[in-house]
Amino acid sequence: MGKCPDCGAWNTLEEVVEASQSQNATQQRRQALLSHAPLTQGTNIPLVLPDIQPLSQPRITVGYPEMDRVLGGGLVPGSVILVGGEPGIGKSTLLLQVSGSIAQTTGPVLYVSGEESVEQVKMRAERLDISGERLYLLASIELDAITEAVHRLKPSLLIVDSIQTLIASHLTSAPGSISQVRECTLQLVQLAKSTHVPIFIIGHVTKEGTVAGPKALEHIADAVLYLEGERYHSYRLLRGVKNRFGATHEVGVFEMHGEGMVEVANPSAVFLADREDGATGSAIVVSMEGTRPLLVEVQALVTPSNFGNARCTTNGIEHNRLLMLLAVLTKRVGLAVGNHDVYANVIGGFTLEEPSIDLGVAAAIASSYREKNIPSDMVLVGEVGLSGELRAVSRLAMRVRESAKLGFKRCIVPSAGKDSRGRGELEDAGLPKDFKVLTASSLAVALEIALH
Ligand code: TYD
Ligand code: MG
Repeated sequence: MGKCPDCGAWNTLEEVVEASQSQNATQQRRQALLSHAPLTQGTNIPLVLPDIQPLSQPRITVGYPEMDRVLGGGLVPGSVILVGGEPGIGKSTLLLQVSGSIAQTTGPVLYVSGEESVEQVKMRAERLDISGERLYLLASIELDAITEAVHRLKPSLLIVDSIQTLIASHLTSAPGSISQVRECTLQLVQLAKSTHVPIFIIGHVTKEGTVAGPKALEHIADAVLYLEGERYHSYRLLRGVKNRFGATHEVGVFEMHGEGMVEVANPSAVFLADREDGATGSAIVVSMEGTRPLLVEVQALVTPSNFGNARCTTNGIEHNRLLMLLAVLTKRVGLAVGNHDVYANVIGGFTLEEPSIDLGVAAAIASSYREKNIPSDMVLVGEVGLSGELRAVSRLAMRVRESAKLGFKRCIVPSAGKDSRGRGELEDAGLPKDFKVLTASSLAVALEIALH
């Protein structure tokens, strides 16, 4: 059937094989799972906490501080890390580099490719300048072959590229189907826990998220990282969305070069490098990406609307958030943006989700509307509420300190947000003498300061 008789959607039916084709196969599998993969030290017996031996293996550094930080300080032995991203974004490249580095520093690495032949992977490795004395390649899509290779080789790291190509022997559905993907991942988790080999699993996601991929596996893996960025931009963000061994929402920044992924240690400086002084509609915001403050330029363009119904287009900012800011600007600040087209853009291909960027976005819009530029040494921080008030943001001191470090001289912050002792967070932030902190209680006041 091409069409679902229930919801009417086309081509959405998927073949699912009942697991219990024969009692024997099921039992065999159950036996296999139980026998060779004890998750804990005492399989069936509950253990009292002091009796459990802690794992003594230290974390393995992957050789890229940006990635180590996203992982929470290195790779935990026996952990399963899912690396998702759109096809072509650079997952294979990054993990091949990690393989090369770990093979050099720690021990043998097994790189399983179900998408490329070993010759293709070798060609890429040569391009990336990886010598790879202890880097083993296996071109296979069979889970059993991979398991066997791991037991034989006992590598320090296993890379599976990609989960959508694997097949488990007892399932008949096609590779990439939800049942295969889930079953293979579960078995890889068992493998990691029983051998203490850490595993990176690569999974493709499409923009629509239709393919059975990382989204369906997030709950199984110990950590989930997404590699993002626009394909035509060279920056790549490695974003941690789940981590059982560290903080989530950490972001590592890389740049795709001809010779592979290169770390960007100070991303704010890079993103602000080609900023034009004195341009209208441009504001600098500070967004916390994990534990690191990131300074990013937000641009807005406001033009009279031609056809009566105004349009509002965003790139890197949530559309609804922009609509809300436009409403606040109209009603609370008295800016007649209603009959204008508004475009908002975040430079560098970033997607910013934090409300603390509200003030910067609103100021960029006001700046473009009034044709007045915001001083180029000014940073704007604050969440905007529906009554036009400026609301306090978390980790203000860290954000302001980072701005000062990058050479900015002024910062507008919400006047709200004293701690329980009535002290502002910035009083002992250790800011340079010539750095000015300007406080504002409302959006209108902040715009007055920024665009006077
Ligand atoms: P790849 O790692 O194959 O992506 P994925 O595994 O996520 O599908 O990356 C493919 C892109 O990266 C491809 O367009 C070529 C580009 N690339 C470089 O720009 N520099 C390099 O050194 C390499 C190996 C690839
Ligand atoms: Mg690939």
